[in-house]
Amino acid sequence: MSYPGFFITFEGIDGCGKTTQLSVLADHLCGLGIAVTTTREPGGTAIGTRIREILLHRDNVHLSASAELLLYGADRAQHVAEVIIPALSRGDVILCDRFSDATIAYQGSGRKLPMETIEGIIGYAAQGIAPDLTLLLDVDVTVGQQRAHRRGVPAGASDDRFEREKIDFHERVREAYLALARREPQRIRVIDASPSPEAITREVQSVVMDALAARGFAFTV
Ligand SMILES: Nc1ncnc2c1ncn2[C@@H]1O[C@H](COP(=O)(O)OP(=O)(O)O)[C@@H](O)[C@H]1O
Ligand SMILES: [Mg+2]
Repeated sequence: MSYPGFFITFEGIDGCGKTTQLSVLADHLCGLGIAVTTTREPGGTAIGTRIREILLHRDNVHLSASAELLLYGADRAQHVAEVIIPALSRGDVILCDRFSDATIAYQGSGRKLPMETIEGIIGYAAQGIAPDLTLLLDVDVTVGQQRAHRRGVPAGASDDRFEREKIDFHERVREAYLALARREPQRIRVIDASPSPEAITREVQSVVMDALAARGFAFTV
């Protein structure tokens, strides 16, 4: 089934700049008169916000890897039904902070859960919906961690379950994202996230505007 909207996801390790860039792009597209829906996973719905709390809370050290995967699946199922499909049906451009690629990278490569199981759960939860365009913001793990830590003041106070993982976990996640991009170079565009936010914004806008124009979105630049 195809929809009139356009589905863009932001991916990459913690601290790469997803939330920063998504918000700037949303303002830019709104300024061009484009209908934009901004959302995130986990936590793009009221129910998802409660699931997000379970997933990220630093005290939930006993959450098993398979329960974690299924909670992400539950969050996505609710999000796709309540937010993604309605927005795509209206013809919106959706900007979503993380989606299915994150499950493959974090639960597949990070937690080392079986890929066939993950792909089954992703397909079921997302009702087969995949992003039209994915922006993979790629940066060194140490740089991402420094940025993420600077975001939480005082340092480390806001560390969630994933921020507390060791460096090799995050290295596996980064590599998994890059492997996905090699497998689907048309959909997943790798953007160097090491320069200034303004330089990244310019590249993000160029990639997105080209993709929207190719899809026939009307806007005045
Ligand atoms: N290109 C950049 N260079 C330096 N700092 C950045 C850059 N992009 C974002 N930041 C800062 O790094 C922190 C993490 O950025 P954020 O957008 O929250 O990342 P993410 O959502 O991917 O975890 C924030 O404090 C943000 O202001
Ligand atoms: Mg973020």
